[in-house]
Amino acid sequence: MKKLMTLCLTLIMMPMFTEISVSAFNLPDIEMIKTLNPDLNIDKVIDEIPKDASLKDPNLVLVNRENPIDSSLDVPLTYTENDIPYHQEIEEAVLDLFTAALDADHHLYAVSGYRTVDQQAANFDARMNLYLADGYDEETAYYMTDLFVAPAEASEHSTGLALDLLGTDWDQYGGDLHQAYKDYPSAIWMAEHAADYGFIIRYLDGKQEITQYEYEPWHLRYVRVEHAQIMMKHNLVLEEYLTLIQHRDDNE
Ligand code: DAL
Ligand code: ZN
Repeated sequence: MKKLMTLCLTLIMMPMFTEISVSAFNLPDIEMIKTLNPDLNIDKVIDEIPKDASLKDPNLVLVNRENPIDSSLDVPLTYTENDIPYHQEIEEAVLDLFTAALDADHHLYAVSGYRTVDQQAANFDARMNLYLADGYDEETAYYMTDLFVAPAEASEHSTGLALDLLGTDWDQYGGDLHQAYKDYPSAIWMAEHAADYGFIIRYLDGKQEITQYEYEPWHLRYVRVEHAQIMMKHNLVLEEYLTLIQHRDDNE
């Protein structure tokens, strides 16, 4: 009974964007997490995870190749100054992140946010067509596109909780999303501070085996401060963090 009341209270206190919640995820195996993080004390990290952390928390929704998004979802949107749409529930977090970055002399701006499933499909085709126009054969063009661009329904941009952000210090490259951005001051600042505003760098270097995407220093994903800080502190990606929660729940 006490457990039920705690659960009800937790649900009442959660932000109200239940429309993107899902009930179960396909997650990596805990043994894979242990193998990929040999120096990580899994039990200690699990102890750090908030007791009310739940796979059903809409902030922790997982969308990837194994967990496609429901394309009929209606995502309530707000817009950045340069008209990039994203989930309205994270507006305060985004504005706080931009303000904190400015205070540290980094002018961040969004190059992409919410995308419908159809827009994601068009993105994939557009990138692939660029490679084809450059003379790559179909198989190679598909392979190269697939490293960075999710197929339709497999992009967390369709949740509205992901934003591609760059700093104006990268302006000479005109908004290009390139891994070399990681060494620019605004990218370094984001990697060090975005978690304090609830965001993770979603596709970390060295975690490609789990995320199935290449390192993207520009792709930020909102998960809430308490989760983001643990993930960034221990260099964990969302799939790994959710597997730890699942492991904890399975062993309760
Ligand atoms: N670049 C990420 C993987 C996406 O397309 O959603
Ligand atoms: Zn992105």
